[in-house]
Amino acid sequence: MLLQVKDVYKSYSKIGLTKGKDKLNVLQGISFSVKKGDCVGLIGESGSGKSTLSRLILGLEKANSGSITIEGQPVKKWIKENQGQMSVVFQDYTSSANPRFTIKEVIAEPLIALGKNDKTQEKVKELLDRVGLSASLMDRYPHELSGGQLQRVCIARAISTRPRFMVLDEAISSLDVSIQAQILELLRDLKRDLDMTYLFIAHDLQAVASLCDEVLFLYKGKIVESISSNNLANAKNEYAQKLLNSVISFSV
Ligand SMILES: Nc1ncnc2c1ncn2[C@@H]1O[C@H](COP(=O)(O)OP(=O)(O)OP(=O)(O)O)[C@@H](O)[C@H]1O
Ligand SMILES: [Mg+2]
Repeated sequence: MLLQVKDVYKSYSKIGLTKGKDKLNVLQGISFSVKKGDCVGLIGESGSGKSTLSRLILGLEKANSGSITIEGQPVKKWIKENQGQMSVVFQDYTSSANPRFTIKEVIAEPLIALGKNDKTQEKVKELLDRVGLSASLMDRYPHELSGGQLQRVCIARAISTRPRFMVLDEAISSLDVSIQAQILELLRDLKRDLDMTYLFIAHDLQAVASLCDEVLFLYKGKIVESISSNNLANAKNEYAQKLLNSVISFSV
């Protein structure tokens, strides 16, 4: 098992309350696992706790209780010993890329951070090619690119260190539908060619179902349904069914 999340609870103090007695219980007993080479989708409405869960998995925040392990090790320990092996792509690609950096610097940043300073030019060229972008963009600045191009740059950066595990938190949500389809295709190719494992977070069920092997439905801090994506029609949970029905009526 690559990722194992066991009975995770996370709460925040409600804003304005200094005593911290009244808590906002964001995650309430989350358990699931992701096998090596699989793509697991996490779907849920805004505020259901998706990004909170991804921050815990990335070691950016700590759970109140429960455990998160990667290859059997606690997240922080694993990250320390496996630098560059896990990466993340966020929804907000505009703030993900330093505006003062050229595209080349944006993409090479994680490599440089790992002390890999050799052949940067060639590596960046290869990565741009990998995500379907022209090498001529290398010396441009983020504001000179379109949203879809910049999100590809963020993906190129995320794969620069050859990670084995990628967390994509609403990585395509703010793009046009046609660009979304292209990026999904790219993610599918990368998964196949680089043998990657994904946790794909989104609120678009169709995108999740098209990329992922399994779909987890997060509702009010709990996973209410966990189902293989080719068996979605048999979802039993009411919230999962509601989402499924809305997609079906949409596509008719
Ligand atoms: N640092 C924080 N302090 C206090 N409350 C927080 C914090 N981070 C998140 N929350 C609250 O936790 C809840 C879940 O937020 P989260 O960002 O995980 O939701 P989400 O499912 O990612 O939503 P979206 O689809 O809009 O991205 C929200 O009510 C949010 O206000
Ligand atoms: Mg979020």
